[in-house]
Amino acid sequence: MNNQASVLIVDDEEVVRETLDLLLSDQYQLYFAENGVEGLALALKVQPDVMLLDAMMPRMNGFDVCRQIRATPLLAELPVIMITALDDRESRLMGLRAGADDFLTKPLDSLELSARLQTITRLNRYRNLVEQRAQLESAHQILLTSYNRTIEGWVNALDLRDKETENHSQRVTQMTVEFARKMGVPDDQLENIRMGALLHDIGKLGVPDAILLKPGKLTDEEWVIMRQHPENAHKWLSPIEYLRTAMEIPYCHHERWDGTGYPRHLQGTEIPLSARMFAIVDVWDALCSDRPYRAAMPEPEVLEYIQKQANTHFDPALVEMFLAMRAGK
Ligand code: C2E
Ligand code: SIN
Ligand code: SIN
Ligand code: SIN
Ligand code: FE
Ligand code: FE
Repeated sequence: MNNQASVLIVDDEEVVRETLDLLLSDQYQLYFAENGVEGLALALKVQPDVMLLDAMMPRMNGFDVCRQIRATPLLAELPVIMITALDDRESRLMGLRAGADDFLTKPLDSLELSARLQTITRLNRYRNLVEQRAQLESAHQILLTSYNRTIEGWVNALDLRDKETENHSQRVTQMTVEFARKMGVPDDQLENIRMGALLHDIGKLGVPDAILLKPGKLTDEEWVIMRQHPENAHKWLSPIEYLRTAMEIPYCHHERWDGTGYPRHLQGTEIPLSARMFAIVDVWDALCSDRPYRAAMPEPEVLEYIQKQANTHFDPALVEMFLAMRAGK
């Protein structure tokens, strides 16, 4: 990209154009027009950083050109410096009404001209940067939205397959985010926890119906396949940079505090905090729900079971927090 700011000079007098050429061509990319119509056409074509516009020109004068610019969407924000013959109040008022940003009087003072141009091009560049940043941010938002739609699609596919666990993903997600918030997890990490919880059992898409929906106990061979679901999630999600942190829950939610979980037999705080919190919520929700292989358990019994699993399955400090949270309901 050309680093020089560009200036479009619209003036009917050749001597003025030549003078401005001499004064400015070192610092600016210059374009010239001899009349208003030509000036408007050139402005549309080159989209200059600023226009130097003579007020007094035959046919279409500078005021008309300026009004036309303000009424043209692509040019409406173009900074316009009007060049008036006299420093009179009347032409300044007319210029302001037509939408001019600044004024210079003939004969032009070269130092004043440079100073005004510098100020206006600097402001213009700043505004362009602000606009570019806003555009990038909005593109980023669109990307995040489409990621979220994709994730929701995957989760729906899983929940549809396993009718008994319908809305399980949504329920455990809501509860885990609430739990994390109560634990003081900062807001910027809650989004990763939300996505991780939604996706926690995504790896079950690799488990055949005959196993996933089996109405009885699993055989040893079937357990080998069922227990691959955290590893499946790790394999599928790890190429996606955006889901790096969200992966903690899908990958680690079946680890146990005492190191007897799967897939990596992590122990204690080796297990990410998000996955330790989620494990409690997952078991709570699983036991409170019907499964193809057993009926739901009443909540008081579920809470008693969770209490008993402190130090073996679950992080004991988190069990205490979870029970306090449920008691507060
Ligand atoms: P899930 O149904 O979402 O259960 C998640 C976790 O909740 C289980 O992880 C386990 O820790 C706990 N849980 C669920 N149901 C029970 C239960 O009846 N008793 C006890 N004590 N804990 C329970 P786990 O064991 O690693 O199981 C992972 C997944 O394997 C389960 O997800 C479920 O889809 C499947 N599964 C587990 N047991 C059976 C079974 O007997 N038959 C069938 N068909 N699938 C099973
Ligand atoms: C197991 O962990 O081997 C089975 C326990 C269950 O049914 O969840
Ligand atoms: C993960 O983010 O892949 C799990 C965290 C761990 O490696 O302990
Ligand atoms: C931690 O962030 O590792 C400590 C949280 C806990 O184990 O309760
Ligand atoms: Fe699971
Ligand atoms: Fe689950």
